[in-house]
Amino acid sequence: MIKYLGSKRTLVPLLSALAQASGARTALDLFTGTTRVAQAFKRQGITVSAVDLASYSEVFARTWITIDADKANQSELTAALADLNSTAGEPGYFTKTFCEDARYFQPKNGAKIDAIRNRIENEFRDSPMYYPLLTSLILASDRVDSTTGLQMAFLKSWASRSFNSLELRDPSLIAGQGFAYRGDALELAANLPATDLAYLDPPYNQHRYFANYHIWETLVRWDSPDSYGIANKRLDVRDPETKSAFNSKREFRNSIEKLITDVRAETLVLSYNNESWLTKDDLIAMCEPRGAVQLIEVDFKRYVGAQIGIFNQAGKKVGVPQHQRNLEYLVLVGEKSTVAKMAKVTNL
Ligand SMILES: C[S@@+](CC[C@H](N)C(=O)[O-])C[C@H]1O[C@@H](n2cnc3c(N)ncnc32)[C@H](O)[C@@H]1O
Repeated sequence: MIKYLGSKRTLVPLLSALAQASGARTALDLFTGTTRVAQAFKRQGITVSAVDLASYSEVFARTWITIDADKANQSELTAALADLNSTAGEPGYFTKTFCEDARYFQPKNGAKIDAIRNRIENEFRDSPMYYPLLTSLILASDRVDSTTGLQMAFLKSWASRSFNSLELRDPSLIAGQGFAYRGDALELAANLPATDLAYLDPPYNQHRYFANYHIWETLVRWDSPDSYGIANKRLDVRDPETKSAFNSKREFRNSIEKLITDVRAETLVLSYNNESWLTKDDLIAMCEPRGAVQLIEVDFKRYVGAQIGIFNQAGKKVGVPQHQRNLEYLVLVGEKSTVAKMAKVTNL
């Protein structure tokens, strides 16, 4: 899996247990990001829908959520990966922009990425393997990058992993059913098919995913955009249409309230943390019209970037993080007996 701000890796076992306790057969993961929560639900036999604004997230969802591993042609995927791995590097836009003008990847790996990405587009665009191959390329690139996990800056000295050679690996498809949607959760929520359970994990601060992961956007879109600044971000990072209401302090409250009202699910599980613009009491008050509300507190270590330090665009350390602990909350909302069953698994 890629390094991802706000990824819920450590929460997955708890979220899986909550989904099971709720008895859900269908679920919605409305801000799916890496899709790891949706994947866990699918592995439990739940039919899951995964939604996100990001293009790379849609690629992950079309790999791990919509494809049923039992019906996929695994030997074709294995052969395609082996063939693509033997591709000779050929520098192009990616190498120039992200390895020479900036230093996110070593040029030898950039040239491989350019060549493999071109082959995926030219040879697999209409193949069911298209999304698994793209996923494999994003994951392979992430393993040899030279960042702290955000693409707002690259490290001043090459990360040791960046010296490794890029290698595509099998993305391990998952058996079961699911759906992928790319779009704004605020627009989609009221119109998606109703589900038993919905998991909501919106951004809770100003950090924009489109800017933080602009390289994955470009690798998926393969549109060679003009770029700006030392970080060589896509020019459209500045455009209003690439901004999310959840990254705006002014729009956040109304947006989350609208979402909580609109989402068509029996039971909600909301992720929330103490770095948000909203107090937990505000959030609880917003949820109460939907039924019983139970708050679960989970304390785990902050995202690694915050522990290393604060870096400027050139990767130079310019500050130290204010606090190291990030309190995560899960808010359970729904029918009283269901919420009570779910709360039991957390040993409250
Ligand atoms: C905290 S992350 C979710 C992490 C995810 N649960 C995981 O474990 O990987 C928030 C996600 O919301 C997405 N996002 C931001 N604004 C959105 C919007 N208006 N509609 C849908 N997705 C949005 C971002 O692209 C990002 O992937």
